[in-house]
Amino acid sequence: MAGVYGPHPFGYNRAMKSLQNLRIVLGITGGIAAYKSPDLVRRLMERGASVRVVMTTSATAFVGPLTLQAVSGQPVATNVLAMADGNAMGHIELARWADLVLVAPASADFLARLRMGRADDLLAAVCLTTTAPIALAPAMNQQMWQAPATVENCVVLRERGIHMIGPAAGAQACGEVGPGRMEEPLAIVEQVAEMFANRALAGRKVLITAGPTREPIDPVRYITNRSSGRMGYALADAARDAGAAVTLISGPVTLTPPDQVELISVETAAQMHEAVMSKVVGQDIFIGCAAVADYTPAAPAARKMKKSEVDLALTLQPTADILAAVAGSGNGLFTVGFAAETDNLALNARAKLQRKALDMIAANLVGGPDRGFDSADNELHVFWADGDRVLPLASKSRLARELVALIAERYQAARSANVGD
Ligand code: PMT
Repeated sequence: MAGVYGPHPFGYNRAMKSLQNLRIVLGITGGIAAYKSPDLVRRLMERGASVRVVMTTSATAFVGPLTLQAVSGQPVATNVLAMADGNAMGHIELARWADLVLVAPASADFLARLRMGRADDLLAAVCLTTTAPIALAPAMNQQMWQAPATVENCVVLRERGIHMIGPAAGAQACGEVGPGRMEEPLAIVEQVAEMFANRALAGRKVLITAGPTREPIDPVRYITNRSSGRMGYALADAARDAGAAVTLISGPVTLTPPDQVELISVETAAQMHEAVMSKVVGQDIFIGCAAVADYTPAAPAARKMKKSEVDLALTLQPTADILAAVAGSGNGLFTVGFAAETDNLALNARAKLQRKALDMIAANLVGGPDRGFDSADNELHVFWADGDRVLPLASKSRLARELVALIAERYQAARSANVGD
């Protein structure tokens, strides 16, 4: 039986933007404002972010790593060479893990080192390595902030796409008054949420499937697959953050339901098919990320099947192809499929794109430990009729944001082409 949970997305409270599933490396450098860092960690986590703290050596003179470990619930990293103890991630792992590197407070010295591309401590090395966005919340004496060297460093860092949060002006710890105070934790959190809330799908309705299905053999046994739902749930987060009203139809998973997303829980392929078709009218975009069973037992037993000594053959029958049904429903949805392949990725994905009459298909290699089913990361090769793009290995939340941005781009292009027809 399908169940409906969660508030309808039109009730989305823009005043409390979510950071759900966003992975943030919080860098703390040496400055008195570091005493606000535990509060910042708490507020980021309240909004749903996962936080890993990296401190410079001088930051540890202002606030204890143990405090930050307690509030973040994760080991705090301070030293690029201490990573070998296996307790914390190394700079490459941290850089890959992050959806955002936020440095707060960012000292004048750190701005200068970042501008120079130094890698002489763990935080600088993470910043140099990461391909995730970097945001800095500077904090320093007002003379240091206004010094020509700092001004020039900030110009260069902004030109490189680094996001500056503040600083605010006012009374400073040194007794002077002027610009250079770190923004308050709440204001930093709001700006981070703003960075990730684009409006690419504002006003659009997006229907997404996620997770596995379970096909019953008898009342206690079923056929399923390794899908965890992570990729589909991350897509729901990303589409919502892009301004869409999102309905997520999910097979059985153990994930926390996304905020401000209508969630419909189902178990079997037939239930998923029924739920999707009941929701399809009025939607703009469909993303089929679920690993729907291709076959289901033709006649599930009403009672628990007894063990016997002879071979057992199960008769399976094909399930309805939900993706093809949506693409062929005549409702004009922009339809995006997934292709899970163990070989011939491009060839098989392009064949599915054509056969199911899709607008786009996101292909992933599955079967390995570091991507695809039930992993934290993934890599996608996305195809459409006259183009393709590789979205390199990254966390599923980051990849979902990139895929949603690409879907929005292609969706707009398709709409403009239709208007021009
Ligand atoms: O959930 P995770 O652990 O995060 O893993 C993510 C993922 C690997 C499940 C995801 O990235 C993915 O690849 N999803 C599609 C899995 C799949 O079933 O692929 P497929 O190549 O067998 O199917 C092609 C497409 O047809 C898919 O969009 C699928 O949703 C759809 N389909 C398949 C069968 C069916 N009966 N109905 C369908 O709609």
